[in-house]
Amino acid sequence: MNIIVTGGAGFIGANFVYYEHKKHPADKIICLDKLTYAGNLETLAPLMEKPNFKFIKADIADRKTVYKIFEQEKPDIVVNFAAESHVDRSIENPEIFLQTNVIGTSVLLDACRKYGIDRYHQVSTDEVYGDLPLDRPDLFFTEQTNLHTSSPYSASKASADLLVMAYHRTYKVPATISRCSNNYGPYHFPEKLIPLMIINALSDKKLPVYGDGLNVRDWLYVEDHCAAIDLIIRKGKVGEVYNVGGHNERANIDVVKTILQQLGKPESLIEHVTDRKGHDRRYAIDPTKIHEALGWEPATKFEDGIKKTVQWYLDNRDWWMNIISGDYQGYYERMYGQREVLEYAKI
Ligand code: NAD
Ligand code: TYD
Repeated sequence: MNIIVTGGAGFIGANFVYYEHKKHPADKIICLDKLTYAGNLETLAPLMEKPNFKFIKADIADRKTVYKIFEQEKPDIVVNFAAESHVDRSIENPEIFLQTNVIGTSVLLDACRKYGIDRYHQVSTDEVYGDLPLDRPDLFFTEQTNLHTSSPYSASKASADLLVMAYHRTYKVPATISRCSNNYGPYHFPEKLIPLMIINALSDKKLPVYGDGLNVRDWLYVEDHCAAIDLIIRKGKVGEVYNVGGHNERANIDVVKTILQQLGKPESLIEHVTDRKGHDRRYAIDPTKIHEALGWEPATKFEDGIKKTVQWYLDNRDWWMNIISGDYQGYYERMYGQREVLEYAKI
């Protein structure tokens, strides 16, 4: 089978490329990636010479190029990871989120219509459901929960989901959608909470926790997300949405403290800073459907996954040093230089 993986030079896409390459060595993977600030070819270096892997630098919103790639590669399956993925950047500049996440998705769907495929899979997020209150631990996102977005990022991802459903209904594009909770693991770009905190702690830099640090995210080890997508594209039912998450809810402050503990660094490095605008309070997935329909369940417990992740950043300093020594410094200054330090009592 020929599988186009868009965004395969990013965090989850790259982990998925490695997962598929190992699990289905007979399949050919064509990675299509624009190589934005978040895409890193170094991540894919070990695969570059493999006969069943091909990398193409391209923008999913570039219709002519995307059509040419479909014509040449004749994909059976398309898995769309390509996206602008960081909420803070979407607050700073929403436009590129619409361009890539919405227009880019529509171009891929048009290509699927035009050339015909067996499956289009949209990698979506639990953020399309908005957030849940902290005082209602009985509430979870199910596939029936209304779309109710908070940030330009989540609004663009929800728009893409609506397009996917519309193309399925109107043009019979055989599509599926997965909505996963927060991922963590190797190759995670250091602008996101977990890698940012690991790297700052390693350099004895302050750890900027937004607001009171009590916002809750439902963390899933990235390989478990890859396994879920692999099951959905091979055994899932077209026209269906699958929520993916492992019932692993943690307050940000607790995640940060766990990282400090793993690294043997003091909690005095934590600094509460100005909150994110529109900050979602709690995400929590109900994964009953994917468990019952496809037998999926997470294999990695948070305690093990976070240890493996911290160790990966210790073992792969070159990978992240190359990132933080480049343009990323300007981003860090823009994003954190202006934030006020808040006086929260120790939590
Ligand atoms: P990432 O930012 O690490 O990687 C995104 C990749 O997409 C990069 O390689 C980038 O170069 C590429 N890209 C961006 N714009 C492109 C374009 N126009 N054309 C082609 N390639 C382009 O993102 P990630 O964290 O790996 O997320 C991947 C997908 O999973 C996204 O769709 C995201 O919404 C979704 N998701 C992420 C999480 C998470 O916790 N990170 C959770 C649920 C869902
Ligand atoms: P992030 O990794 O950006 O993922 P998302 O916003 O998509 O959930 O952030 C995870 C949580 O961590 C979120 O509640 C915001 C918070 N956060 C901080 O407190 N400090 C930071 O420097 C970052 C990047 C995130």
